Amino acid sequence: MANSSIVLGYFLFVVILAGLEFVRAQSSNSSAVEDPEMVVEMVERSINSSRRQLGYFSCGTGNPIDDCWRCDPDWERNRKRLADCGIGFGRNAIGGRNGRFYVVTDPRDDDPVNPRPGTLRHAVIQTEPLWIIFQRDMVIMLKEELIMNSYKTIDGRGVNVHIANGPCITVQYVTNIIIHGIHIHDCRPAGNAMVRSTPSHYGWRTMCDGDGVSIFGGSHVWVDHCSLSNCADGLIDAIMASTAITISNNHFTHHDKVLLLGHNDDYAQDKNMQVTIAYNHFGEGLVQRMPRCRHGYFHVVNNDYTHWEMYAIGGSANPTINSEGNRYLAPVDRFAKEVTKRVETSHGRWKHWNWRSQGDLFLNGAFFHQVRRRGVFQLYKGLEPGSQACVSREISDWKCRSSRLPKRVTLLKAIKARIA
Ligand SMILES: *[C@@H]1O[C@H](CO)[C@@H](O)[C@H](O)[C@H]1NC(C)=O
Ligand SMILES: *[C@@H]1O[C@H](CO)[C@@H](O)[C@H](O)[C@H]1NC(C)=O
Repeated sequence: MANSSIVLGYFLFVVILAGLEFVRAQSSNSSAVEDPEMVVEMVERSINSSRRQLGYFSCGTGNPIDDCWRCDPDWERNRKRLADCGIGFGRNAIGGRNGRFYVVTDPRDDDPVNPRPGTLRHAVIQTEPLWIIFQRDMVIMLKEELIMNSYKTIDGRGVNVHIANGPCITVQYVTNIIIHGIHIHDCRPAGNAMVRSTPSHYGWRTMCDGDGVSIFGGSHVWVDHCSLSNCADGLIDAIMASTAITISNNHFTHHDKVLLLGHNDDYAQDKNMQVTIAYNHFGEGLVQRMPRCRHGYFHVVNNDYTHWEMYAIGGSANPTINSEGNRYLAPVDRFAKEVTKRVETSHGRWKHWNWRSQGDLFLNGAFFHQVRRRGVFQLYKGLEPGSQACVSREISDWKCRSSRLPKRVTLLKAIKARIA
């Protein structure tokens, strides 16, 4: 009798725990949208209407993002208007629009745990929304990765700002980030060090890979008008179910693995990854991954591809790729004319994926191997709250400590997959 009531009690306990998990999962709603085609249509509409206003002597360039703020001769006084100019999945990123301006006056990064006021690190860790601008031209060589807090804009318009020759930018488990008009290059690994992430918290970080911008479980992120080149790992990597991202108007050069979107075929949460890649120039010295996608939905629109050595757009694990109005100029190598690459997947499997091309311009023998499928896109609906937790590279992260063993195994796989 006593035994059976213990069993019953234990059983109830498990049921209640499961219920709590369920509730938590339901409330941990992703920023992904149910119908990505609607967002695609919004982008098409804004491109069409910008084009209709092409002006001979006006600022109208046909680029809806630029035309939105550059037509204002007083843009410098109305900087925050930029936040309303985004298109695509990252269009709702407001950055620091609702906050004060913060002027960076000091390029140094002497102490990543106690950053001096006036430095970029001191600005990005703050809890309040901030629109961060720069007093003058500067080269910022970070000592450790720059861990951003939510609701920040880094706005380099009007000055020449480089983040270079050290670790670069990390957008981890935060939201509403705009990075605009800066040069990010020669990013290097660092870590095994203490780094501050908010005014009230710092922690031990393991090594970072040396990405230009590393987006890790981030949402509502917009990277616009930056130049990115020559980093130790990716120029921009977005992983761990990061979503609501737009990468636009950037100039990418001199790099092997340019954009990695999704880190592991087995990580089903990446089905919620939705990324717009628009108006970028993929230029000199690039090799592959522009982007390389997993799961998710990727709208690649109006980009100019002038250099690739291996391929332009690749993927595995059934990503949806919607390529529209791009210019693809193939390299001379006759074995590298194909824009697309299905990475390590048999034809029997990838023939069910949806990779389509419309209105693209193909030059010098470039071709896009398309297979159109309807209705293959589905959001991740599984119940695995906090499962992205233990991949945090901060040892003291509470999510990490509280997560269970199998997740650590997934984590190791994830990290290996990134290295591979
Ligand atoms: C998340 O919630 C918002 C509104 O609260 C909704 O519009 C959106 O579709 C939800 N996303 C998912 C993936 O359930
Ligand atoms: C945009 O313009 C193109 C070309 O005129 C047209 O085919 C397409 O339907 C338009 N899209 C939208 C959403 O208005």
